[in-house]
Amino acid sequence: MSNKIFRVKPINQLLQDGEGGKSLNKVLGSFELTMLGVGAIIGTGIFVLTGVAAANYSGPALILSFIISGLACAFAGLCYAEFAAMVPVAGSAYTYGYAALGEIWAWIIGWDLILEYAVAIAAVAIGWSGYIVNLLSSIGINLPKQLINAPGVNGGVINLPAILIIAVITGLLIIGVKESTTVNNIMVGIKLIVVLLFIILGVTHIKPANWTPFMPYGWKGVFQGASIIFFAYIGFDAVSTAAEEVKNPQKDLPRGIILSLIICTILYIVVSAILTGMVPYIQFKETSAPVAFALQQIGINWGSALVSVGAVCGITSVLLVMMFGQTRVFFAMSRDGLLPKVFGEVHSKFRTPVKSTVLVGIVTALMAGFTPIGIVAELTNIGTLAAFMIVSAAVIVLRKKRPDLKRSFKCPMVPAVPIMAILFCGYLIYSLPRITQYRFIAWLAIGLVVYFIYGIKHSTIEKYENAVENEEVS
Ligand code: ALA
Repeated sequence: MSNKIFRVKPINQLLQDGEGGKSLNKVLGSFELTMLGVGAIIGTGIFVLTGVAAANYSGPALILSFIISGLACAFAGLCYAEFAAMVPVAGSAYTYGYAALGEIWAWIIGWDLILEYAVAIAAVAIGWSGYIVNLLSSIGINLPKQLINAPGVNGGVINLPAILIIAVITGLLIIGVKESTTVNNIMVGIKLIVVLLFIILGVTHIKPANWTPFMPYGWKGVFQGASIIFFAYIGFDAVSTAAEEVKNPQKDLPRGIILSLIICTILYIVVSAILTGMVPYIQFKETSAPVAFALQQIGINWGSALVSVGAVCGITSVLLVMMFGQTRVFFAMSRDGLLPKVFGEVHSKFRTPVKSTVLVGIVTALMAGFTPIGIVAELTNIGTLAAFMIVSAAVIVLRKKRPDLKRSFKCPMVPAVPIMAILFCGYLIYSLPRITQYRFIAWLAIGLVVYFIYGIKHSTIEKYENAVENEEVS
């Protein structure tokens, strides 16, 4: 058994997978990838969760929470970049785990990523619904509360806008990647403009008095805030899930990952400083749209409305990339036999995984329509943090096991950087609520059951065992 669960997939084989007849359409360059990254990163985190973190955990020290989370992502991002350039095939962290650590770890990461993406899709769609409902009500259109909330939330029955937006995104992804990235680029452009607009309008309205007390909930609060605001950074890893659709992956992937992370980190730090300087942190308790709210408070209503429109666009592009990432993880896991074949089928006309996209659409729409945002949002972070830790460990392992492999991008200062990633992510997991940690353990346990009932028997790795030996000898 133990030699089965630790089977590794030979790198040569991984690369061939990406080139075979089952492969996806190669249309993305480093510009599209950076846009894909920014598209996945800036969304519900900055537009919605900043208020939650500032009011309840970080206070004006929100900026420190952003820096702590940003550091965790920077360390992990460098590890991702090394892998992405070395193994540019669909599946991201899941594939890296398979190459470096063995099948069981790959499965655990893949299972984690399902949690990250699927649950994030639901959480982000619910956030989108909240913003659009606010926007509509600001122009006098009030939707019935039964149709805009999950059961148990504010008299809700179903969250219809959340379901509708997932249906639209599913349709876009089915039509094809190129078309979707064009839509994505437009939305990312709008979102960057409104973030800059906020910075320009807000910076002259900072009252330094709002920054004291700086840490009303102490360091503990700052770290708790960081573990929540981490959500805002999730998405740069989605760049690597698109690996097989990239024209020149060795160069473009590390660039896309690192550039998108740098752009977003800078914007977040600036926005969080301005936001907490404009309005006393405690006031954010009253709103689920803190960025628009802050502009309203200083009387710039037109700016607030524009930011809301931008936020809706911004959150839409997060959905697009998250959903894209989810289907690509399924694609890779199914190609390896760990999930049923249906997830790996590529449609002959669209050259996209149509069936798995529809399936992801249905499941996430059900979650988004009928679950309160709290439950889904909490789980996303822990799944992602765990995947980051495993990927960082995998960099160290693979440097030792396969020093010969061509690494067109090398993570600097190994093992120091991966170890820092592990420590930072580990501490953020520790800072999350206990209930979230228990739910995560339950999710992993279910995953292991699925693996031992299905994956271990259907894994296609057996046929590569000779290849592994040859690769190790050569
Ligand atoms: N980083 C993404 C967001 O904030 C998930 O919406």
